Formats: sequence, C-alpha cells, structure tokens
Amino acid sequence: MIDSLDSLREEMLARIEQSGSEAEIEQIRVEALGRKGRLTLLLRGLKDLPSDERPRVGEQLNALRQLLETRLQDRLQIVKAQQKEKALREEFIDVTLPGNRGESGHIHPLTLVIDEIIDIFRGMGFEIARGPDIEDDYHNFEALNIPKDHPARDMQDTFFVSDGRLLRTHTSPVQIRTMESRKPPLQVIVPGAVYRHDDDATHSPMFHQVEGFMVDGNIAFSDLKGVLTHFLQRMFSEKAGVRFRPSFFPFTEPSAEIDIQCVICSGDGQAIQQRYCRVCKGSGWLEILGAGMIDPGVFKFVGYDPERVSGFAFGMGVERIAMLKYGIDDIRLFFQNDLRFLRQFG
Ligand code: PHE
Repeated sequence: MIDSLDSLREEMLARIEQSGSEAEIEQIRVEALGRKGRLTLLLRGLKDLPSDERPRVGEQLNALRQLLETRLQDRLQIVKAQQKEKALREEFIDVTLPGNRGESGHIHPLTLVIDEIIDIFRGMGFEIARGPDIEDDYHNFEALNIPKDHPARDMQDTFFVSDGRLLRTHTSPVQIRTMESRKPPLQVIVPGAVYRHDDDATHSPMFHQVEGFMVDGNIAFSDLKGVLTHFLQRMFSEKAGVRFRPSFFPFTEPSAEIDIQCVICSGDGQAIQQRYCRVCKGSGWLEILGAGMIDPGVFKFVGYDPERVSGFAFGMGVERIAMLKYGIDDIRLFFQNDLRFLRQFG
C-alpha cells in the first residue's frame, strides 16, 4: 500500500510537471482526484484496512491529496501565464507602423465650375431645370426660330440620331420645354451636355453649356445686363470689366455677345513682360456669353403673348469658362481621364 502510494506520487508529480495545457491539467486532476480517481479509490479502500494501519495510511493519503491539489493549482497558474505571454507575442500589433492610406477622389473640374455657376444663380433666385440630350428638330431648331435652311442645321454641326431625332446642339431647347409646360414668372438655369461635330484644342464633340432665362411681365435689357454683370464678376473678379457687343441669334432680339476683360493680361492685351497675350489674342477681352431678349416669335411657339410677357435668355460654354479660370489650354484634357491632370483640382 505505502509502496504503491509512493509510485503514484512520483508518477503524478512528473505528469503535472510536464503538462502544457489547461485541458491536460484538468485530465490529470480527474484521473487522480475525481470521483473515480486513483487516489479517491484508495481513500475509499481505507475502511478495509486493519484498524491499526488506518490512521497512518489515511494521513499519508490526505497529505498526498493536498500535495497534488497544490501542485495542480500551481501548474495551472504557470500554464495560464505562459499562454498569455504567447498570445501577447503572437498578436502583437505595432501601432506606430504607417497605416494604409485610402485613395480619396476629386470632383471633376467641370463639375466644380458647373456647381459654382449654379451657386451664383441660385443666389439670385434662379431654379434648375434639365432636358433630354436626344432632342427633336422642333425643340432644338424650329421653335427657337431657326428656319429649315439655317446653317446651324447643317450636317457638319449636328449629330443626327434617326429621322427627326438629334443630339441637342445647345441647351436652348429647354427654354422651349419649360415655357411649354409652365407659365411666367420663370427664372431658370439649365446645365447640361451638348453635342456638335467639332474636334480640336478648343472644341469637343461633347461639351457643356449653362442656359439661363427669365420671363415675366416686364423684363428689360437692363435686367439682363445686371444679372450677367453680377454673375461674371462673382465668377471671375469683382474688378473685371464687362462689355456687351451687338450680335445675332435667331431666338433673341436684340442679341448680344458679352465679354469680360482678359483674365490673363487683365485687359491690356499685353501679357507678362510686355508680350502679346495669346489668350485674348491681344484684344484684352474674352467672349464668354451669348444672350439677348427672347424673340417674340419664340413666345408665339410656346403660346405666350409677346404683348404681355418679355424675357431674356443667355447661354455659356462651361469648358471655356473652366479653361480661362484654371489656365487650361486644351479642352481634350477634360475628357482624357488622366489622373495627373484631374488630381490638381482638390
Ligand atoms: N444657344 C446659343 C449657343 O449655343 C447661346 C445662346 C443662348 C444665345 C441663349 C442667346 C440666348 O450658341
């Protein structure tokens, strides 16, 4: 009995010493001290011993039980500490390493300019309208007082889609669509894409315009002048001179082309160091807008009485404004999606 107790002690202590996980320690505990554990069975067998041996053996069994319990407990502590250390080592994160920087996109320069134009006109009470890119002959030409033999209808300018359908050559058809469906007073701007058969450093087959018009009982040319002068000085410079020149459009009468003083040479026609200014070609002025008082013929097409309403309309090219504002000399840069170009517009 005492011999087997000694060998049980040695065996168990050795196994505890070598155990490496909580599960293993628990397994040893059950095997020795569990309900059917080896030591438990020995304790139960005490009652079969002669009564004079019982106290001595009992004492030794209890001593062994206590020893195993403390050793198991100690070993558990050590194993837990080792596991924690291992986890800390393996799951180490160096928070001082540089992170992965996410790519952030940019607003396209044309969108920036359109948004700025919209902002300025919103400030004057204009609302925004849109129309279809694929138009019919009536809205793009006919109702705008552009007769059948007008050169603007030439195959060379207009992209025809199918009979009677074409890609709008300007945003002016949205004047017609708006007036057809609504009554004055109207104060509207129309940003959008337009299409013309044209392709070089300053012309693109698809480009953008912002149309604007104001119709009410008593709109005068002075209203047109005030609105557009305010717009141009907000868009470019408070100090920039604005000039109105007589012009012609079939859908406005009288018509004007509107210039601002050159943003590069500030209007003296000479660029830096007394050299000829290439942007305004030495004139000191830049043409920016077409405009005029809406032709009475147009009002008749939409069912307005030209004796009772009047209005002005204007149209501008967004790419041209963006090129002047940012000093860009080739319109194709806007559409090539070259990130080296696009990244410059925060
Ligand atoms: N639609 C004209 C163009 O594309 C611009 C314009 C609009 C002129 C409104 C006068 C009034 O050139």
